[in-house]
Amino acid sequence: MTLIVKILGISGSPRRANTEILVKAALSEAENSGAEIEYVSLAGKIINPCKHCDLCPVDKSFCIQIDAMQEIYEKLLAADGIIIGSPVYVGSVTAQLKATMDRCRALDRKASKENKAKPLRLKVGGAIAVASGRHAGQEDVLHTIRTFFSHMDMIPVGITAPHTQLGATGITHRKDGVRKDEWFHWNIGKMINSIDMARMLGRKVFILTAIVKAGREITKLDFPRPYCLELSDTIV
Ligand SMILES: Cc1cc2nc3c(=O)[nH]c(=O)nc-3n(C[C@H](O)[C@H](O)[C@H](O)COP(=O)(O)O)c2cc1C
Repeated sequence: MTLIVKILGISGSPRRANTEILVKAALSEAENSGAEIEYVSLAGKIINPCKHCDLCPVDKSFCIQIDAMQEIYEKLLAADGIIIGSPVYVGSVTAQLKATMDRCRALDRKASKENKAKPLRLKVGGAIAVASGRHAGQEDVLHTIRTFFSHMDMIPVGITAPHTQLGATGITHRKDGVRKDEWFHWNIGKMINSIDMARMLGRKVFILTAIVKAGREITKLDFPRPYCLELSDTIV
């Protein structure tokens, strides 16, 4: 069986700096492990917030708003695993990334209309967060991204890292300062930095994605659509 594993990395920063460095480090490790990779930076992209117009889906596109999301929808659908990074902005993800995640509601609505299962289901997700300080909102960002993964019926993956088990984190003040964040990793008995953490995440996302994809191809198992119908008879 030939298994092609596609991993998409998205940086939610409006600039090409530390988040990009970490997302690319994760992608590069995934590629070295055997993945086909693709990288998208939200920097400079116009992604409007969801208006809750409920007009989605529109013809062949997913959303009535024709902006950078149309291209991102295609990339999300084509990927088997997705790594998303964001800087901490006032304790949460950037507005650009939040808009991107909210606009993915249109993917679900299109599938629902066609009586299909959620389109990002069973894709593996890895989260990365960068802030100026230590414990400065990284966990909140990781939780927000992982909640997006869960909402989409994806599989969030973490790492056995010294700092947090939720994903990879970084600390920086400078545009290229992400490396200065170092933590002692008790399993390997040495200091590791943010880039090492991102690489660990990238490798784990690749491995789990390969396992899930191979397992799905062999078992032909899938989530039914709609989920609750079989249960509803017994739940009443
Ligand atoms: C609007 C805004 C809000 C920010 N809020 C926080 C914050 O709550 N906590 C923090 O530690 N850093 C905060 N920062 C700093 C960024 O998280 C930090 O510079 C990060 O490295 C930026 O990522 P980038 O280099 O990939 O753009 C904020 C920066 C901006 C522009």
